[in-house]
Formats: sequence, structure tokens, C-alpha cells
Amino acid sequence: MIRKCLFPAAGYGTRFLPATKSMPKEMMPIVNKPLIEYGVEEALEAGLSQICIVTGRGKRALADHFDTNYELEHQIAGSSKEAMLNDIRHLISSCTFSYIRQQEMKGLGHAILTGEPLIGDEAFAVVLADDLCINTDDGVLSQMVKLYRQFRCSIVAIQEVPANETHKYGVIEGEMIKDDIFRIKSMVEKPAPEDAPSNMAIIGRYILTPDIFDIIRNTEPGKGGEIQLTDALLQQAKDGCVLAYKFRGKRFDCGSVDGYIEATNYCYENLYSP
Ligand code: UTP
Repeated sequence: MIRKCLFPAAGYGTRFLPATKSMPKEMMPIVNKPLIEYGVEEALEAGLSQICIVTGRGKRALADHFDTNYELEHQIAGSSKEAMLNDIRHLISSCTFSYIRQQEMKGLGHAILTGEPLIGDEAFAVVLADDLCINTDDGVLSQMVKLYRQFRCSIVAIQEVPANETHKYGVIEGEMIKDDIFRIKSMVEKPAPEDAPSNMAIIGRYILTPDIFDIIRNTEPGKGGEIQLTDALLQQAKDGCVLAYKFRGKRFDCGSVDGYIEATNYCYENLYSP
């Protein structure tokens, strides 16, 4: 079954400059926990304990976060502050972490292809940590892993967005095969509202079958000169089947300042306990 979760985390995070000049966007905290930690928690909850992270220059803080900090831990040992490390210690002891560096930031498709040596020939999940997903029962990845068991093909998570926001997303055209499950017929990357085939936008959770690597290898750079995952997924949908799943739960676009503030307020009010 699915054991691995890939986190493409090599992007520059330009929408958050200057904060992201020397700090990875994925380390930005929502209240007191970095974005990537929420993502790893979601993966572990779905049973994926092999965490594979695509990093880049200036991203060493990511690897340090999922490691012991002897000096600090010695300093606070036995104090009330030690409990603040419970969650991260649990992740560190429950998961394995491997890293690979993307040397040129040539897009999400390229970042996923960069992760191939860590994934190999098996289906895997992808989490874009700047999309924070929260649900009170099953997490979004758990919901998708269950669906994968049934359908055994690539699955993308989708959300309905207002027409004036389609230009921020890959947008699908699908045929409904069951409640909240669509078979993808077509997909467009960041369409203007008048060109969007629907208002159903792909967000940062995927289950991918490993044939996606060969498809990405043969995908020409698309919009913005980047190798787009959307283009590869469209090919995969044409060759076989890709499903789109309207998930249960909330999703915050923490790659944008507005979404980040919204997520911070939500988590402070609903999840944070000092
Ligand atoms: P984004 O489109 O959010 O780009 O990438 P970005 O560089 O992180 O942020 P902005 O737009 O400049 O503010 C979506 C995801 O894909 C990863 C990013 O780290 C993010 O998780 N990514 C993107 C890579 O790992 N490598 C790339 O070459 C591009």
C-alpha cells in the first residue's frame, strides 16, 4: 500500500518575501507549529511514515526541524516547556525522513521528478505544505488513501473556488462517477475565468501512481517555462484514469498572505492550547 509521502519544498516562496529570503516558506509557523509539521502529521495519520522532502538551497532548517537539538533539549529537560516538544518528538520517532535537492527550480512537475530516487516504483502521496488542510475526523490524505485502495489510480484533491480565482489553480473538467468523485476529462493550468472549464480547482494533495515519472520526463515546459504537474496529469488522464476528489475539510492557502492570516486565526481559535 502507500507508504511514502513526497513534500516538494524547494520553491522560492516569493509571495512571502522578505520573510522567505533565507527561511523556507514551509518553516513559517501557523501559531507555534511550522507548516511542514502539519503536513507530516497529516501524512502519518494516513499511515504514511516514509517522509521524502525535495529541498533546495537555503532549506537546511527543514532537515534540522526533524532532528534532535541536543543543546536545547538538554536545556529544557524536566521543565514545563519540554511538553511543547511532544508532537515533534512523536513525529521524529514514528517517521523516517529522506531529502533530495532540486538544483534548479523548474516547477512542481520537475520537483516531483527530482523526488523519484526517494520514491522508486510505487504509488505515493504528495503534500504541498503551504496548503494547510484541516478536518475534524479523517484528514484529507486519509480520505484519499482510502479512495486509492478502491480505485488504484492517481487522485487529485479539488475544491470549488470563486470564478475570479481560477487563474491561481489547475482547474479540471470532470465527469461525476460518485458523490464527490470525478473522472478527469480535461485540465487547464491557471486559466482566466472565461477559459476555465469549471470552478473545481486542484489543491496541494495528490496520490500519484509511479508511471507519472515517465510522463513528467516527456512533458515539455508549459506555463511560465516550468514543467507543470497539471500537464503530466492530463496526459495520465488521457492514457488511463485520473480521479478528482472533493474532500471533506477546510483548506487554507498559506502561500498567500491572506490565506496565511486566515489559517493563523483559525488555528489559534480552534486548535491551539497553550
Ligand atoms: P508555488 O507555486 O507555491 O511556488 O509552488 P513557490 O516558489 O513555493 O512560491 P511563490 O509562488 O514564489 O510565492 C508550489 C509548491 O511546489 C514547490 C514549492 O515549494 C511549493 O510547495 N516547488 C515549486 C518546488 O519544490 N520546486 C519548484 O521548482 C517549484
